[in-house]
Amino acid sequence: MLPFFKNLLVAYLRARMEELKSKISELKESINQFATEEKNKAETFRIRFLGSSGLVKKIMGEMRNVAPENRKQAGLALNALKQFAEEKYNQLKNSVSPEAERTSNHQDLTLPGNELPVGSRHPISIVRNRIISIFQRIGFTVAEGPEVEDDWHNFTALNLPENHPARDMQDTFYVRRNPDWMLRTHTSSVQVREMERGELPIRIICPGRVYRNETISARAHCFFHQVEGLYVEENASFADLKQTLYFFAREMFFQDVKIRFRPSYFPFTEPSAEMDISCLICGGKGCNVCKHTGWVEILGCGMVHPNVLENCKIDSHKYTGFAFGMGIERITMLKYQINDLRLFSENDVRFLKQFTHAI
Ligand code: DAH
Repeated sequence: MLPFFKNLLVAYLRARMEELKSKISELKESINQFATEEKNKAETFRIRFLGSSGLVKKIMGEMRNVAPENRKQAGLALNALKQFAEEKYNQLKNSVSPEAERTSNHQDLTLPGNELPVGSRHPISIVRNRIISIFQRIGFTVAEGPEVEDDWHNFTALNLPENHPARDMQDTFYVRRNPDWMLRTHTSSVQVREMERGELPIRIICPGRVYRNETISARAHCFFHQVEGLYVEENASFADLKQTLYFFAREMFFQDVKIRFRPSYFPFTEPSAEMDISCLICGGKGCNVCKHTGWVEILGCGMVHPNVLENCKIDSHKYTGFAFGMGIERITMLKYQINDLRLFSENDVRFLKQFTHAI
């Protein structure tokens, strides 16, 4: 090559090297600035300078234009630049942003907590507990009795002697080994056990499971739950019975629920009645649930029949009493608008979990 041209080329390449050097220092400057200004933006920094189409990568491409004798120098300078940028990036990444610092020291107590999955009580248990607590507030205590009962406690003592037609009202499961034994058909049997203990006065409620030989459907089941109530004292009256049940219905449903008593028949009470409340579904206007009457029956009740008192060795001339019995399923269905009894024993979690927050 002619010396003239060679000199020209050398001058040109030197100029390019100078240019590269100034570009490197310019970029270094802007890296520095960005790193100081945008302290909390490590990721933006990385994309801008170190990413695959970032400025550092781009300037690396300048190596192509560097004269062979300057390559080493340019390579060192470019590597130093890259290292510089990486260091800055790491600093940015590890430094806590002023915003993060502020929030890390202060817990925001107004944030909602993480919801933990909680179990739920069975609706029957919810309602049973509610019934118990209402009666406990007016001095009733809980009494329990066996589910396998004998004829005397389930029927005979309750004024239902053998061959009494009212025994047919309740289809009974008998125990094959002993025809005197059966699965109790109602919790009224606990009344008898309690009266036989002979401690007076009596003010008890008896929650429990009962069994009847019924075909399972939306409206009937072979087992269900009842709460029996019994009050025996020297001057217990029908007015006491009514007031007790008024109190119960208002506490259980709502304060201005309408209540009515209808005459009825039970062998163990005289007089007997059934208590209705105004339909919770239609408010008394008439719907399918109340069969268009506006009323739904929720319990049976009455004054304890003197024969029952005498069967339990209580002097019926001195003592009187009232009793009542209600089905927990029925009250639960009304309260939560459930239309199929079978849901209670299927234990489908989709059904049960709806009662997590029920009261
Ligand atoms: N034992 C009745 C039944 O299972 C319910 C009942 C009605 C209980 C009237 C009573 C009562 O104590 O007085 O259908």
